[in-house]
Amino acid sequence: MKMARTIAELQAARPSGEIGLVPTMGAYHAGHVALFEAARAENDAVVASLFVNPAQFAEGEDFALYPRDRERDSCIAAESGVDVLFAPDASELYPSGYQTWVDVEELSRPLEGAFRPGHFRAVATVCLKLFNLVRPARAYFGQKDAQQVAVVGRLVRDLHLPLELHVVPTVRDDDGLALSSRNVFLSADERERALALPRALAARDRSLLDGLDVDYFEEADLDGMHVLAAAVRVGSTRLIDNVPLEGDPR
Ligand code: PAF
Repeated sequence: MKMARTIAELQAARPSGEIGLVPTMGAYHAGHVALFEAARAENDAVVASLFVNPAQFAEGEDFALYPRDRERDSCIAAESGVDVLFAPDASELYPSGYQTWVDVEELSRPLEGAFRPGHFRAVATVCLKLFNLVRPARAYFGQKDAQQVAVVGRLVRDLHLPLELHVVPTVRDDDGLALSSRNVFLSADERERALALPRALAARDRSLLDGLDVDYFEEADLDGMHVLAAAVRVGSTRLIDNVPLEGDPR
């Protein structure tokens, strides 16, 4: 696996043939490995990005604390068949004078958008940058971030980007908790309490979240993707999850 720290290094390392791109913020777990494996199976080469995008964290969010371990991530990516890992510094993607943003207006407003203003503008912008730099045939995202999938899907369609989005099902621990890089912040007791989230979604029963700090528990039509989505805070950790609802075309 080649490591590219700059755009010039990425261009030099860009593989030939059809590329599957997996955009990530690192702290890899089995959910990321599922994305790498899907990309590996369907493309000639796999490029993953490892970039904790500062712009998508608002003031007071966990940007500084977000787990980072580039060495461990490189090993997992290499073992999972990634050909090129693009891990730029923030100044590479947002050099001084940077001022261009892409806003997927309506889809960015509800659910996460209501609690994290500006979040999806930054996600859409960094994804568009990665699509332009890597020029993938396919890009891979997890169902766990359903609204992100909808926002990026709309970006691809609205801007006529020549790539397909592939959505990989949420990977869960045996007890049902969706894998997330933020799960490492949960104490044993908080992890136990966090299990209410997948249980409430599976039972479609908000009352199972009683005692947790609930940002939302809502059915949503995300550009034709019907989900029951929720966000809760357990201690200082914010978790999101969703389940596709009947009638969802997938
Ligand atoms: O889902 C994530 O890890 C991030 O939002 C993404 C898509 C890599 C953009 O920074």
